[in-house]
Amino acid sequence: MRPLRICLAASEVAPFAKTGGLADVLTGLGRWLGAKAPAGAGHDVRIFLPCYQRIAESGVKTTPVAKMSAIDVRFPGRTIRFGLRTVPLPQSDVLVHLVDCPELYGRSQIYTSDGDEALRFAFLCRAVLESCQRWQWAPDVVHCNDWHTALLPLYLRTVYAWDRLFAATRTVLTIHNIGYQGVFPDAQLDVIGLGDQRAHLHHGDLREGRFSCLKTGVLHANKLTTVSRTYAKEIQTAELGMGMDELLRTRSQDLVGIVNGVDYGTWDPATDPLIPHHFTAEDLAGKAKMKAALLQRLSLPHDPRAPVFGVVSRLTAQKGFELFADSIPIFLQREDMRLCVLGSGETKHEQYFQWLRDTWPKKVGLYKGFHDELAHWIEAGSDLFLMPSRFEPCGLNQMYSLRYGTPPIVRRTGGLADTVEPWDPATRQGTGFLFDEFSSHALAGTVDWALRNWRDQRGWRQLVQNGMRRDFSWDRQGPEYVALYRSLLPAS
Ligand code: ADP
Ligand code: GLC
Repeated sequence: MRPLRICLAASEVAPFAKTGGLADVLTGLGRWLGAKAPAGAGHDVRIFLPCYQRIAESGVKTTPVAKMSAIDVRFPGRTIRFGLRTVPLPQSDVLVHLVDCPELYGRSQIYTSDGDEALRFAFLCRAVLESCQRWQWAPDVVHCNDWHTALLPLYLRTVYAWDRLFAATRTVLTIHNIGYQGVFPDAQLDVIGLGDQRAHLHHGDLREGRFSCLKTGVLHANKLTTVSRTYAKEIQTAELGMGMDELLRTRSQDLVGIVNGVDYGTWDPATDPLIPHHFTAEDLAGKAKMKAALLQRLSLPHDPRAPVFGVVSRLTAQKGFELFADSIPIFLQREDMRLCVLGSGETKHEQYFQWLRDTWPKKVGLYKGFHDELAHWIEAGSDLFLMPSRFEPCGLNQMYSLRYGTPPIVRRTGGLADTVEPWDPATRQGTGFLFDEFSSHALAGTVDWALRNWRDQRGWRQLVQNGMRRDFSWDRQGPEYVALYRSLLPAS
């Protein structure tokens, strides 16, 4: 079988631009697809990402692509120019292609609420296709991710339909989070050059004077995926479909759930360059040292018997932290425990964690903001990881915590349900603790149950080892994407 030409497009790629798991998935999947597989060469993978201001400021060395320094893209009444630069994806031969357009991306944030937000990402879609044209490179598959690149299939079917280069190109759209749909007033369609394509957009939305980038992608991509099997079912229900369930049900034949892989090149406690003490399932001494180091770093007293609960998260409604209010303080009062929180997001959540920190300064450590290294330390140094999500398309953190010997406490939803198995002390099977009902009461009951198990340290060691030995690598998950891509190739 020949290697495939795969174009990946997204708004985040780690380590260059990251707010959450999307960035890790692009990097892990891109690296895996581009790797030299034992059976032959890797696939021809080209990743596209906007050249955000933060990339230029980070000092990372980027290289201009020959003959691609000034490409004009025409929009109604306006021409916008970009240049293409590359930066190697770390530990990989794959190049990330940066769409350099200071007019649109020279801002301090990745995402903005500026009036041209639709244009910023519509432009990314077009820059991908314009670059392919310049190279005369016909991707077998363009793999789009979330709303930011979801207009690409429609552009391909309309504005670029004349170009035979793309005659055999197929599109895949992965929904990483249906909570973000990219909904804009329909007047913006003229701005992004889709004003004549209203017939191809969701009519119900247009009637209400708006359009949704994600819905447009769902209508036009050849295949749809989302990032776990359970979430693939959930988004087809009224409860979790966020208004898209009906449309998704009409495309259920083309929708598959593929659980995200973990890039153990970046997230493995045996080799992680961001942590000072390493460990494996067989030798956990380094984990005890990481616990002491983490507590010292967050100025908390160390006692090996006191369990450390970790949180690393975007602080949004999705993540379920409102369940803490009537549960976690009870444990902080009652138990000799520690809680280490790293997060940023909505002010009310940040304030709540600040309140916990101020109320129990010897038990709660807090870092408000984004801190990659500290994320690795918390995974490695905690005894339990808390992730009570209201919904969770996949979730990477619980898989990281499994590998770092930190059993997760999660709600049974989306990818959490697919990746964490309930611990049963009688059979010594399982990897973590799950609860169903979205309530403080259910969370509290599960924390209580976890603490009772913590007191049986021999059983605990088995639980930790079970989780560390699970394999969520891209070697397991990646082939599902390749099979999907191949299923789209025209029969030869
Ligand atoms: P989501 O994509 O919904 O945020 P995931 O669990 O899939 O959730 O991925 C979250 C990713 O973002 C992980 O790599 C996690 O370590 C990282 N992360 C989240 N918040 C922070 C933060 N405040 N600082 C550093 N890393 C963070
Ligand atoms: C989204 C989801 C998260 C998922 C990530 C990567 O941000 O919230 O559950 O793991 O995308 O697919």
